[in-house]
Amino acid sequence: MVTLFQNPFRPGAGHPPPYLAGREAERQDFARHLEQQPILANLVLTGLRGVGKTVLLETFKPIAIQKGWLWAGTDLSESVSVSEEIVAVRILADLAPLVSGIKVGESQKRRIGFTSSVERKALHLDFDLLKRVHDETPGLASDKLKAVLEFVWSCLSHTRCRGVVLAYDEAQNLSDQAAGHQYPLSLLLDVFQSIQKKELPFLLVLTGLPTLFPKLVEARTFSERMFHVMTLDRLIDKESRDAILKPIERQNCPVHFSDQAVKGIIDHSGGYPYFIQFLCREMFDSYLQQKAAGDAKPRVTVAQTLRKLDSDFFAGRWSRVTDRQRELLSVVAVLPNCDDEFSVLEIVEDSKKALTKPFSASHVNQMLAKLAESGLVYKNRHGRYSFAVPLLGGFISRQQTEGLLKNL
Ligand SMILES: Nc1ncnc2c1ncn2[C@@H]1O[C@H](COP(=O)(O)OP(=O)(O)OP(=O)(O)O)[C@@H](O)[C@H]1O
Ligand SMILES: [Mg+2]
Repeated sequence: MVTLFQNPFRPGAGHPPPYLAGREAERQDFARHLEQQPILANLVLTGLRGVGKTVLLETFKPIAIQKGWLWAGTDLSESVSVSEEIVAVRILADLAPLVSGIKVGESQKRRIGFTSSVERKALHLDFDLLKRVHDETPGLASDKLKAVLEFVWSCLSHTRCRGVVLAYDEAQNLSDQAAGHQYPLSLLLDVFQSIQKKELPFLLVLTGLPTLFPKLVEARTFSERMFHVMTLDRLIDKESRDAILKPIERQNCPVHFSDQAVKGIIDHSGGYPYFIQFLCREMFDSYLQQKAAGDAKPRVTVAQTLRKLDSDFFAGRWSRVTDRQRELLSVVAVLPNCDDEFSVLEIVEDSKKALTKPFSASHVNQMLAKLAESGLVYKNRHGRYSFAVPLLGGFISRQQTEGLLKNL
Protein backbone atom coordinates (compact mmCIF):
# COMPACT_ATOMS: atom_id res chain seq x y z
CA MET A 1 0.00 0.00 0.00
CA VAL A 2 1.35 3.46 -0.87
CA THR A 3 1.23 5.75 2.11
CA LEU A 4 0.48 9.34 1.33
CA PHE A 5 3.40 11.59 2.20
CA GLN A 6 2.04 14.71 3.86
CA ASN A 7 3.66 18.03 3.17
CA PRO A 8 5.93 18.30 6.23
CA PHE A 9 6.66 22.06 6.12
CA ARG A 10 4.91 24.30 8.62
CA PRO A 11 4.93 28.03 7.92
CA GLY A 12 3.01 29.59 10.76
CA ALA A 13 3.21 31.30 14.11
CA GLY A 14 4.62 28.97 16.73
CA HIS A 15 4.05 25.84 14.64
CA PRO A 16 6.85 23.40 15.42
CA PRO A 17 8.94 22.83 12.29
CA PRO A 18 9.47 19.31 10.98
CA TYR A 19 13.16 19.77 11.76
CA LEU A 20 14.45 22.48 14.08
CA ALA A 21 17.67 23.58 12.45
CA GLY A 22 20.54 25.13 14.40
CA ARG A 23 19.86 26.84 17.75
CA GLU A 24 22.09 24.42 19.64
CA ALA A 25 24.18 27.23 21.17
CA GLU A 26 21.01 28.93 22.40
CA ARG A 27 19.71 25.74 24.00
CA GLN A 28 22.99 25.21 25.79
CA ASP A 29 22.98 28.81 26.89
CA PHE A 30 19.51 28.34 28.36
CA ALA A 31 20.62 25.15 30.14
CA ARG A 32 23.51 27.09 31.72
CA HIS A 33 21.07 29.62 33.11
CA LEU A 34 19.41 26.80 35.02
CA GLU A 35 22.67 26.07 36.84
CA GLN A 36 22.76 29.49 38.51
CA GLN A 37 22.58 29.56 42.26
CA PRO A 38 21.40 32.19 43.04
CA ILE A 39 19.88 33.51 39.85
CA LEU A 40 21.74 36.57 38.66
CA ALA A 41 20.76 36.57 34.99
CA ASN A 42 17.32 36.13 33.47
CA LEU A 43 16.74 35.72 29.77
CA VAL A 44 15.36 37.87 27.01
CA LEU A 45 14.88 35.88 23.81
CA THR A 46 14.42 38.31 20.99
CA GLY A 47 14.53 38.63 17.21
CA LEU A 48 12.54 39.70 14.19
CA ARG A 49 9.12 38.35 13.27
CA GLY A 50 9.23 34.70 12.20
CA VAL A 51 12.83 34.07 13.22
CA GLY A 52 11.79 31.19 15.48
CA LYS A 53 11.45 32.59 19.01
CA THR A 54 8.27 30.77 19.97
CA VAL A 55 9.34 27.35 18.73
CA LEU A 56 12.73 27.70 20.41
CA LEU A 57 11.07 28.71 23.67
CA GLU A 58 8.97 25.54 23.43
CA THR A 59 12.15 23.46 23.24
CA PHE A 60 13.46 25.09 26.43
CA LYS A 61 10.59 23.60 28.38
CA PRO A 62 11.70 19.93 28.26
CA ILE A 63 15.27 21.01 29.05
CA ALA A 64 14.05 22.73 32.20
CA ILE A 65 11.80 19.87 33.25
CA GLN A 66 14.57 17.33 32.71
CA LYS A 67 16.79 19.38 35.01
CA GLY A 68 14.17 19.34 37.76
CA TRP A 69 12.60 22.75 37.19
CA LEU A 70 8.92 23.57 36.94
CA TRP A 71 7.83 25.52 33.87
CA ALA A 72 4.96 27.99 33.81
CA GLY A 73 4.06 30.57 31.27
CA THR A 74 1.90 31.75 28.44
CA ASP A 75 1.56 34.04 25.51
CA LEU A 76 1.00 37.56 26.79
CA SER A 77 -1.95 38.98 24.97
CA GLU A 78 -2.34 42.71 24.84
CA SER A 79 -4.94 42.68 27.57
CA VAL A 80 -2.23 41.78 30.05
CA SER A 81 -0.80 45.25 29.83
CA VAL A 82 -3.93 46.72 31.30
CA SER A 83 -3.28 46.50 35.01
CA GLU A 84 -0.99 45.27 37.74
CA GLU A 85 -3.78 43.11 39.13
CA ILE A 86 -4.19 41.29 35.80
CA VAL A 87 -0.47 40.52 35.60
CA ALA A 88 -0.44 39.22 39.17
CA VAL A 89 -3.49 37.03 38.58
CA ARG A 90 -1.92 35.75 35.35
CA ILE A 91 1.16 34.62 37.28
CA LEU A 92 -0.91 32.95 40.00
CA ALA A 93 -3.00 31.18 37.37
CA ASP A 94 0.14 29.96 35.61
CA LEU A 95 1.71 28.69 38.82
CA ALA A 96 -1.37 27.10 40.35
CA PRO A 97 -1.64 24.00 38.11
CA LEU A 98 2.00 23.16 38.80
CA VAL A 99 1.75 23.29 42.56
CA SER A 100 -1.87 22.47 43.27
CA GLY A 101 -0.95 18.88 44.13
CA ILE A 102 1.05 20.04 47.14
CA LYS A 103 -0.74 19.67 50.46
CA VAL A 104 0.01 22.52 52.81
CA GLY A 105 -2.22 21.70 55.79
CA GLU A 106 -5.79 21.11 56.73
CA SER A 107 -8.76 23.35 57.01
CA GLN A 108 -11.26 22.69 59.77
CA LYS A 109 -14.98 23.32 59.55
CA ARG A 110 -17.33 22.75 62.48
CA ARG A 111 -20.42 20.77 61.45
CA ILE A 112 -23.53 21.42 63.43
CA GLY A 113 -25.93 18.51 63.56
CA PHE A 114 -27.32 16.19 66.21
CA THR A 115 -23.75 15.98 67.46
CA SER A 116 -21.27 18.68 66.67
CA SER A 117 -18.18 17.45 64.83
CA VAL A 118 -15.20 18.88 62.99
CA GLU A 119 -14.80 18.26 59.27
CA ARG A 120 -11.15 18.26 58.14
CA LYS A 121 -10.25 19.02 54.57
CA ALA A 122 -6.82 18.87 52.98
CA LEU A 123 -5.59 22.32 52.01
CA HIS A 124 -3.81 22.42 48.68
CA LEU A 125 -1.63 25.04 47.05
CA ASP A 126 -4.29 25.80 44.50
CA PHE A 127 -5.33 29.03 42.84
CA ASP A 128 -7.81 29.95 45.59
CA LEU A 129 -5.16 29.66 48.26
CA LEU A 130 -2.58 31.61 46.23
CA LYS A 131 -5.15 34.30 45.59
CA ARG A 132 -6.01 34.44 49.30
CA VAL A 133 -2.36 34.92 50.23
CA HIS A 134 -2.16 37.62 47.57
CA ASP A 135 -5.28 39.48 48.67
CA GLU A 136 -4.60 39.23 52.38
CA THR A 137 -1.03 40.52 52.19
CA PRO A 138 -1.02 44.20 53.09
CA GLY A 139 0.88 46.74 51.01
CA LEU A 140 1.59 47.42 47.39
CA ALA A 141 0.91 45.16 44.40
CA SER A 142 4.57 44.14 44.44
CA ASP A 143 4.42 43.17 48.15
CA LYS A 144 1.43 40.94 47.43
CA LEU A 145 3.02 39.15 44.50
CA LYS A 146 6.31 38.73 46.37
CA ALA A 147 4.45 37.19 49.29
CA VAL A 148 2.82 34.64 47.00
CA LEU A 149 6.09 33.65 45.33
CA GLU A 150 7.84 33.38 48.69
CA PHE A 151 5.00 31.24 50.00
CA VAL A 152 5.10 29.00 46.92
CA TRP A 153 8.84 28.51 47.28
CA SER A 154 8.55 27.80 51.03
CA CYS A 155 6.32 24.85 50.04
CA LEU A 156 8.39 23.75 47.03
CA SER A 157 11.76 23.88 48.77
CA HIS A 158 10.86 20.66 50.63
CA THR A 159 10.38 18.85 47.34
CA ARG A 160 12.93 17.85 44.71
CA CYS A 161 12.06 20.87 42.60
CA ARG A 162 15.11 23.00 41.81
CA GLY A 163 13.24 26.10 40.80
CA VAL A 164 10.52 27.59 38.64
CA VAL A 165 10.88 29.07 35.16
CA LEU A 166 8.28 31.69 34.29
CA ALA A 167 8.30 32.06 30.52
CA TYR A 168 6.30 34.72 28.72
CA ASP A 169 6.02 34.97 24.95
CA GLU A 170 5.09 38.19 23.12
CA ALA A 171 6.28 40.07 26.18
CA GLN A 172 6.74 43.29 24.19
CA ASN A 173 3.02 43.74 24.81
CA LEU A 174 3.62 44.46 28.48
CA SER A 175 3.71 48.17 29.15
CA ASP A 176 3.43 50.62 31.96
CA GLN A 177 0.72 53.21 31.65
CA ALA A 178 1.51 56.29 33.65
CA ALA A 179 -1.81 57.88 32.64
CA GLY A 180 -3.79 55.07 34.25
CA HIS A 181 -1.32 54.73 37.17
CA GLN A 182 -0.71 51.15 36.15
CA TYR A 183 2.82 49.76 36.07
CA PRO A 184 2.53 46.03 35.29
CA LEU A 185 5.93 45.82 33.61
CA SER A 186 7.73 47.54 36.47
CA LEU A 187 5.83 45.30 38.87
CA LEU A 188 7.20 42.19 37.19
CA LEU A 189 10.75 43.52 37.17
CA ASP A 190 10.63 44.76 40.78
CA VAL A 191 9.22 41.49 42.07
CA PHE A 192 11.76 39.31 40.30
CA GLN A 193 14.65 41.52 41.30
CA SER A 194 13.56 41.40 44.91
CA ILE A 195 12.91 37.64 45.18
CA GLN A 196 16.13 36.81 43.33
CA LYS A 197 18.03 38.99 45.83
CA LYS A 198 16.56 36.73 48.49
CA GLU A 199 17.94 33.79 46.47
CA LEU A 200 14.59 32.31 45.51
CA PRO A 201 15.07 30.25 42.34
CA PHE A 202 12.47 31.81 40.03
CA LEU A 203 13.92 32.40 36.55
CA LEU A 204 12.22 34.84 34.21
CA VAL A 205 12.35 34.19 30.46
CA LEU A 206 10.79 36.90 28.30
CA THR A 207 10.39 36.44 24.57
CA GLY A 208 9.48 39.15 22.11
CA LEU A 209 10.26 41.48 19.25
CA PRO A 210 13.37 43.68 19.33
CA THR A 211 11.38 46.42 21.04
CA LEU A 212 11.22 44.28 24.18
CA PHE A 213 14.62 44.86 25.76
CA PRO A 214 14.68 48.66 25.29
CA LYS A 215 11.22 48.67 26.85
CA LEU A 216 12.46 46.76 29.90
CA VAL A 217 15.41 49.13 30.34
CA GLU A 218 13.13 52.13 29.98
CA ALA A 219 10.86 50.79 32.73
CA ARG A 220 13.72 49.88 35.10
CA THR A 221 17.36 50.69 34.33
CA PHE A 222 18.47 47.71 36.42
CA SER A 223 16.99 45.47 33.68
CA GLU A 224 20.25 45.96 31.83
CA ARG A 225 22.00 43.93 34.52
CA MET A 226 19.10 41.61 35.23
CA PHE A 227 18.81 40.06 31.75
CA HIS A 228 21.04 38.28 29.33
CA VAL A 229 19.80 39.05 25.82
CA MET A 230 19.73 36.14 23.42
CA THR A 231 19.14 37.48 19.91
CA LEU A 232 17.98 34.97 17.36
CA ASP A 233 19.32 35.61 13.93
CA ARG A 234 18.74 34.08 10.51
CA LEU A 235 20.01 30.52 10.04
CA ILE A 236 23.44 30.10 8.50
CA ASP A 237 23.57 28.32 5.11
CA LYS A 238 24.28 24.87 6.50
CA GLU A 239 21.36 25.17 8.97
CA SER A 240 19.03 26.46 6.24
CA ARG A 241 20.02 23.51 4.10
CA ASP A 242 19.13 21.16 6.98
CA ALA A 243 15.79 22.91 7.49
CA ILE A 244 15.01 22.35 3.80
CA LEU A 245 16.36 18.86 3.25
CA LYS A 246 16.00 16.94 6.53
CA PRO A 247 12.18 16.89 6.49
CA ILE A 248 12.11 15.19 3.08
CA GLU A 249 14.98 12.78 3.68
CA ARG A 250 12.48 10.09 4.47
CA GLN A 251 11.17 7.06 2.72
CA ASN A 252 8.47 7.61 0.11
CA CYS A 253 8.96 11.33 -0.17
CA PRO A 254 7.70 12.14 -3.67
CA VAL A 255 9.46 15.52 -3.86
CA HIS A 256 13.16 16.29 -4.11
CA PHE A 257 14.72 19.71 -4.21
CA SER A 258 17.51 20.11 -6.77
CA ASP A 259 20.73 21.81 -5.68
CA GLN A 260 19.64 24.85 -7.61
CA ALA A 261 16.28 24.94 -5.81
CA VAL A 262 17.96 24.60 -2.40
CA LYS A 263 20.31 27.45 -3.24
CA GLY A 264 17.37 29.56 -4.47
CA ILE A 265 15.39 28.92 -1.28
CA ILE A 266 18.38 29.80 0.88
CA ASP A 267 19.04 33.02 -1.07
CA HIS A 268 15.46 34.20 -1.22
CA SER A 269 14.54 33.27 2.34
CA GLY A 270 17.65 35.03 3.62
CA GLY A 271 17.89 32.10 6.06
CA TYR A 272 14.76 33.29 7.91
CA PRO A 273 12.94 30.21 9.19
CA TYR A 274 9.41 31.35 8.40
CA PHE A 275 10.33 32.06 4.78
CA ILE A 276 12.12 28.72 4.46
CA GLN A 277 9.01 26.90 5.68
CA PHE A 278 6.79 28.96 3.40
CA LEU A 279 8.81 28.52 0.21
CA CYS A 280 9.35 24.79 0.84
CA ARG A 281 5.69 24.15 1.57
CA GLU A 282 4.50 25.96 -1.53
CA MET A 283 7.09 24.36 -3.81
CA PHE A 284 6.30 20.93 -2.42
CA ASP A 285 2.57 21.38 -3.13
CA SER A 286 3.05 22.94 -6.58
CA TYR A 287 5.27 20.09 -7.65
CA LEU A 288 2.67 17.50 -6.66
CA GLN A 289 -0.18 19.46 -8.22
CA GLN A 290 1.62 19.74 -11.55
CA LYS A 291 2.38 16.06 -11.39
CA ALA A 292 -1.25 15.20 -10.61
CA ALA A 293 -2.28 17.31 -13.62
CA GLY A 294 -0.26 14.98 -15.84
CA ASP A 295 2.97 16.92 -16.12
CA ALA A 296 5.72 14.31 -16.18
CA LYS A 297 8.45 16.87 -15.46
CA PRO A 298 7.00 19.57 -13.24
CA ARG A 299 8.89 22.85 -13.13
CA VAL A 300 8.67 24.74 -9.90
CA THR A 301 10.89 27.76 -9.44
CA VAL A 302 11.63 29.80 -6.37
CA ALA A 303 10.85 32.97 -8.34
CA GLN A 304 7.22 31.87 -8.94
CA THR A 305 6.84 30.93 -5.31
CA LEU A 306 8.18 34.28 -4.21
CA ARG A 307 5.16 35.95 -5.79
CA LYS A 308 2.91 33.92 -3.53
CA LEU A 309 4.99 34.94 -0.53
CA ASP A 310 4.59 38.56 -1.58
CA SER A 311 0.83 38.27 -1.84
CA ASP A 312 0.31 36.09 1.25
CA PHE A 313 2.80 37.61 3.64
CA PHE A 314 3.85 41.10 2.63
CA ALA A 315 0.89 42.49 0.67
CA GLY A 316 -1.43 42.71 3.71
CA ARG A 317 1.15 44.69 5.63
CA TRP A 318 1.88 46.90 2.61
CA SER A 319 -1.79 47.67 2.03
CA ARG A 320 -2.04 49.29 5.46
CA VAL A 321 0.69 51.81 4.61
CA THR A 322 -0.22 55.28 3.28
CA ASP A 323 1.18 56.58 -0.02
CA ARG A 324 3.58 58.96 1.69
CA GLN A 325 4.78 56.18 4.03
CA ARG A 326 5.35 54.01 0.95
CA GLU A 327 7.53 56.73 -0.53
CA LEU A 328 9.57 56.85 2.62
CA LEU A 329 9.92 53.06 2.82
CA SER A 330 10.92 52.97 -0.83
CA VAL A 331 13.76 55.37 -0.08
CA VAL A 332 14.83 53.06 2.76
CA ALA A 333 14.60 49.97 0.54
CA VAL A 334 17.33 51.23 -1.77
CA LEU A 335 19.77 52.03 1.04
CA PRO A 336 22.57 49.44 0.89
CA ASN A 337 22.17 48.83 4.64
CA CYS A 338 18.35 48.56 4.61
CA ASP A 339 18.32 44.97 5.89
CA ASP A 340 20.50 45.98 8.79
CA GLU A 341 19.82 49.43 10.26
CA PHE A 342 19.37 52.93 8.92
CA SER A 343 19.25 56.47 10.26
CA VAL A 344 16.91 59.42 9.87
CA LEU A 345 19.73 61.37 8.26
CA GLU A 346 20.34 58.73 5.61
CA ILE A 347 16.67 58.81 4.64
CA VAL A 348 16.62 62.61 4.48
CA GLU A 349 19.75 62.70 2.30
CA ASP A 350 18.58 59.99 -0.08
CA SER A 351 15.08 61.42 -0.36
CA LYS A 352 16.65 64.61 -1.74
CA LYS A 353 18.10 62.59 -4.59
CA ALA A 354 15.14 60.30 -5.22
CA LEU A 355 12.00 62.38 -4.65
CA THR A 356 10.63 65.60 -6.03
CA LYS A 357 9.17 66.30 -2.59
CA PRO A 358 11.97 65.21 -0.20
CA PHE A 359 11.45 64.61 3.53
CA SER A 360 12.63 66.84 6.36
CA ALA A 361 14.22 65.23 9.43
CA SER A 362 11.25 65.97 11.67
CA HIS A 363 8.88 64.53 9.12
CA VAL A 364 10.95 61.33 8.87
CA ASN A 365 11.03 61.06 12.66
CA GLN A 366 7.25 61.37 12.90
CA MET A 367 6.63 58.90 10.11
CA LEU A 368 9.03 56.33 11.50
CA ALA A 369 7.31 56.60 14.88
CA LYS A 370 3.97 55.84 13.19
CA LEU A 371 5.48 52.93 11.24
CA ALA A 372 6.93 51.59 14.48
CA GLU A 373 3.46 51.67 16.04
CA SER A 374 2.14 49.57 13.19
CA GLY A 375 5.01 47.10 13.65
CA LEU A 376 6.87 47.65 10.39
CA VAL A 377 10.03 49.22 11.80
CA TYR A 378 11.54 49.56 15.24
CA LYS A 379 14.00 51.92 16.86
CA ASN A 380 17.03 50.36 18.46
CA ARG A 381 18.82 51.62 21.52
CA HIS A 382 21.23 53.74 19.49
CA GLY A 383 18.41 55.70 17.91
CA ARG A 384 18.74 53.95 14.55
CA TYR A 385 15.90 52.08 12.86
CA SER A 386 15.48 48.63 11.32
CA PHE A 387 12.70 46.82 9.53
CA ALA A 388 10.74 44.74 12.06
CA VAL A 389 9.73 42.36 9.29
CA PRO A 390 12.63 40.51 7.68
CA LEU A 391 13.32 41.02 3.97
CA LEU A 392 10.82 43.87 3.68
CA GLY A 393 13.38 45.81 1.62
CA GLY A 394 13.45 43.09 -1.05
CA PHE A 395 9.66 43.06 -1.25
CA ILE A 396 9.47 46.85 -1.68
CA SER A 397 12.11 46.71 -4.42
CA ARG A 398 10.13 43.99 -6.21
CA GLN A 399 6.98 46.14 -5.99
CA GLN A 400 8.83 49.08 -7.49
CA THR A 401 10.24 47.04 -10.35
CA GLU A 402 6.78 45.66 -11.12
CA GLY A 403 5.31 49.17 -10.99
CA LEU A 404 7.94 50.42 -13.42
CA LEU A 405 7.36 47.48 -15.76
CA LYS A 406 3.61 48.12 -15.73
CA ASN A 407 4.20 51.77 -16.65
CA LEU A 408 6.41 50.95 -19.62
N1 LIG B 1 15.21 26.54 13.75
C1 LIG B 1 14.22 26.39 12.87
N2 LIG B 1 14.31 25.51 11.86
C2 LIG B 1 13.31 25.35 10.97
N3 LIG B 1 12.15 26.03 11.04
C3 LIG B 1 11.98 26.91 12.03
C4 LIG B 1 13.01 27.14 13.00
N4 LIG B 1 12.58 28.07 13.85
C5 LIG B 1 11.34 28.43 13.46
N5 LIG B 1 10.97 27.73 12.37
C6 LIG B 1 9.67 27.89 11.66
O1 LIG B 1 9.54 29.29 11.39
C7 LIG B 1 8.22 29.75 11.62
C8 LIG B 1 8.21 30.88 12.61
O2 LIG B 1 8.57 30.41 13.90
P1 LIG B 1 8.05 31.13 15.23
O3 LIG B 1 6.57 31.28 15.20
O4 LIG B 1 8.65 30.43 16.38
O5 LIG B 1 8.73 32.58 15.05
P2 LIG B 1 8.63 33.81 16.05
O6 LIG B 1 9.99 34.42 16.08
O7 LIG B 1 8.03 33.41 17.33
O8 LIG B 1 7.66 34.78 15.25
P3 LIG B 1 6.77 36.01 15.82
O9 LIG B 1 7.70 37.15 16.04
O10 LIG B 1 5.80 36.30 14.72
O11 LIG B 1 6.12 35.54 17.08
C9 LIG B 1 7.42 28.52 12.04
O12 LIG B 1 6.75 28.06 10.90
C10 LIG B 1 8.47 27.53 12.51
O13 LIG B 1 8.04 26.21 12.26
MG1 LIG C 1 6.30 33.99 18.29
